[in-house]
Amino acid sequence: MKTLNDIRSSFLSYFGKQGHAIEASGPLVPRNDPTLMFTNSGMVQFKNLFTGVETRDYVRATTAQKCVRAGGKHNDLDNVGYTARHHTFFEMLGNFSFGDYFKDDAIAFAWELLTREFGIDPNRLLVTVYHTDDEAAAIWKKVANLPDDRIIRIATDDNFWRMGPTGPCGPCTEIFYDHGDHIPGGPPGTPEEDGDRFIEIWNIVFMQNEQFEDGTMRPLEMQSIDTGMGLERIGALLQGQHDNYETDTMRALIEASGNALQVDPFGAGNVHHRVIADHLRSTSFLIADGVMPSNDGRGYVLRRIMRRAMRHAHLLGAKDPLMYQLVPALLRQMGSAYPELGQAQSLITETLYLEETRFKQTLERGLKLLEDEVGGLAEGAELPGAAAFKLYDTYGFPLDLTQDALREQGRNVDTAGFDAAMAEQKAKARAAWSGSGEAADATVWFDVADKHGTTDFLGYDAETAEGQIVAVLVDASPADSAKAGDVVQIALNQSPFYAESGGQVGDQGTITTETGKVEVTDTRKTAGVFAHIGTVTEGHVTPGQAAVLEVNHARRTAIRANHSATHLLHEALRGALGDHVAQRGSLNAADRLRFDFSHTKAVSPDELRQIEAEVNDYIRQNTAVETRIMTPDDARGLGAQALFGEKYGDEVRVVSMGQQDGSGKGTDKNTYSLELCGGTHVRQTGDIGAFVLLGDSASSAGVRRIEALTGQEALNWLRDQQTALAGIAETLKTSSADVASRVKALMDERKSLSNEVAQLRRELAVAGGGGATAPEAVDVNGVKFLAQVVQGVTGKDLPALVDEFKANLGSGAVLLIADTGGKAAVAGGVTKDLTDKVSAVDIVKAAVVELGGKGGGGRPDMAQGGGASAENAEAAIAAATAILKG
Ligand code: ALA
Repeated sequence: MKTLNDIRSSFLSYFGKQGHAIEASGPLVPRNDPTLMFTNSGMVQFKNLFTGVETRDYVRATTAQKCVRAGGKHNDLDNVGYTARHHTFFEMLGNFSFGDYFKDDAIAFAWELLTREFGIDPNRLLVTVYHTDDEAAAIWKKVANLPDDRIIRIATDDNFWRMGPTGPCGPCTEIFYDHGDHIPGGPPGTPEEDGDRFIEIWNIVFMQNEQFEDGTMRPLEMQSIDTGMGLERIGALLQGQHDNYETDTMRALIEASGNALQVDPFGAGNVHHRVIADHLRSTSFLIADGVMPSNDGRGYVLRRIMRRAMRHAHLLGAKDPLMYQLVPALLRQMGSAYPELGQAQSLITETLYLEETRFKQTLERGLKLLEDEVGGLAEGAELPGAAAFKLYDTYGFPLDLTQDALREQGRNVDTAGFDAAMAEQKAKARAAWSGSGEAADATVWFDVADKHGTTDFLGYDAETAEGQIVAVLVDASPADSAKAGDVVQIALNQSPFYAESGGQVGDQGTITTETGKVEVTDTRKTAGVFAHIGTVTEGHVTPGQAAVLEVNHARRTAIRANHSATHLLHEALRGALGDHVAQRGSLNAADRLRFDFSHTKAVSPDELRQIEAEVNDYIRQNTAVETRIMTPDDARGLGAQALFGEKYGDEVRVVSMGQQDGSGKGTDKNTYSLELCGGTHVRQTGDIGAFVLLGDSASSAGVRRIEALTGQEALNWLRDQQTALAGIAETLKTSSADVASRVKALMDERKSLSNEVAQLRRELAVAGGGGATAPEAVDVNGVKFLAQVVQGVTGKDLPALVDEFKANLGSGAVLLIADTGGKAAVAGGVTKDLTDKVSAVDIVKAAVVELGGKGGGGRPDMAQGGGASAENAEAAIAAATAILKG
């Protein structure tokens, strides 16, 4: 028997042999179509190739595309489990031509693959064409030799495929398989077509038009092909089954559920196992593609699917969380075709476990409440909206879970009542919030969040994506349009831009719409809505437009490197300084990183060296950086570093990097760094490139601050250092290696020279300075008084000179006035034998006044002062003489 894996491979290799590029599935969260909740067909990733906006180096491609149809326009959730062919997750096999081959080849390929490669009996096949498409009908006749009654013309939109209200579209031809007259149902186009006998297996779209917002449709310049065949359907057919859940993959998952619960997988509980098997696939693939359970948008669809599965597990008697146990079975079935499942295995397992554990506590109580409510209702009466809302609000029951639970009793929910209760609660929350005194500006963002939901962040793995503008603010007020030159804040339904938080700066980049362009200089968030702040640089932008968002890649790359290096630095600091080191603040900008941490002493140069070396060791280790979601307690149990006093939600993102051999600190002993973090990081530690510590300084009491550089900035810094050193070496006429010893020698030389100069100056001054006659003492009132203006010495040198003169005099008084170029310094001295008669302080004070200064002081034998200029030196000497005269 051909397994689903075999069939997928045969499909891809068949088209590979026909010259098609075998491309990987696009992600479930569409990067290039903001209006789609989830990727729901193979052509989504190629949308821009059909319209000619984008070209690639191939013109034909083939894929197996992951698709989710839950939430949004295509929503199969309600039916899953109860029917043979509804799934929330399925794979679409497709072949695509971008202006290359058209109807002839597309039909010929399909016919050959089905009847030759897959060996399907041609007599069981029939096709539909759009009623006016004579060309397609003729090709079918020629290629497949189908009789007219098996080429059915359909006039409805069933045979005109549109990806949505806008975008590429065209007539299509569908291939049906007749499962035989033992199953009720009629061929397409007949009143009995909804029966299960004739099953559509392949849709081939002749992309030749584009639909626009204003309702017009224009022919595309090129004619293309888009096809889609559900793997589960063709798989069922090739495996001789009528029900997709009877295929090998689905049976294996159903069995895994049966084994884990010890409940017969194919017995009375089969419907529940089917729900579990389907939901296991959609939830796991969504988590692997970056969706996390939340109360809003895509995350809420994920949560609804998870909780729906949990109720079915509960109905099978599950006592413990179940879904997470089934992840290995899913990996066995689909892991080799979709390597992202393996990469995200721990993330998937932990996210499922967390959601199941948390919801389990309220599921039982909620079901009990539901039972009580229903007990009081008349037969067939609707469940009141208020009761459904209470289940939602208090017990976390998504509305569709309650509806699913009542389905078995044939009972509905009053959804209008539910909506009214929800609206009332929102109004109350808003009233409470606006009274809380927060900045008025924020109300705008709460309005946006209310009306359009919060912004989906796509930036963990994308830097370019499309989004739909939901609000444009000019001068902090919502506007209908913003034109070139306007400073704006723009909100979109989804964005790859990181909004500033946790020390990581907001992203910069561009937002481009059909009519204009915005340079984004910062991104912030309020109430879960991202404000892209910037200036309109071209044309104009308006709410409702689709926009291409491009994050400045080089800047984001540098920010990632700095953020990841901060985690390594944190761990290295703990290793070197002790476990008391805790983060007190951080900045992860594009050009540098800063990390504040609790530590009382300066970090020594040796410690800094050791820390820097350790961080670089882990960079060179070049291991993958991993992200997981868990409860804060589990994360701490693993040894994750959390910010002290920080409030965490029910679940946290744990980023781990670096491997070590069993010497880790937490329960996860093989991981070097584990931190709770919502930021963006490098994929491999090697992407950080290099790490240079600039030094440590005090930030505040008990908090030190380290600044560091990574990547190109680190290299630039090292290069600048080297250039500066080379410049010094050149000036010193030595090599870089000898600069230090050369500078030391120069410093020593300088010291001895300056001693020598000081000595010479004194000698010169004592000798009368500059060749003048040596000063002579005069007798004043029986005291030898020597007064002189000296040049070329500083105030500092004066006391030593005064001492020298005093020694020469033996007994007497001295006054020296140094002309220091604009200012005057004064020193006076009196030999000890005379200090009873006259004080040096008085002499100096008297001189200082004449020199335009104030004060002066010291001891009776030595005093100092200063004046504005030495110009009045004569008068100063006279004033001092007067003091001696008494
Ligand atoms: N895009 C087409 C579909 O989804 C093939 O049916």
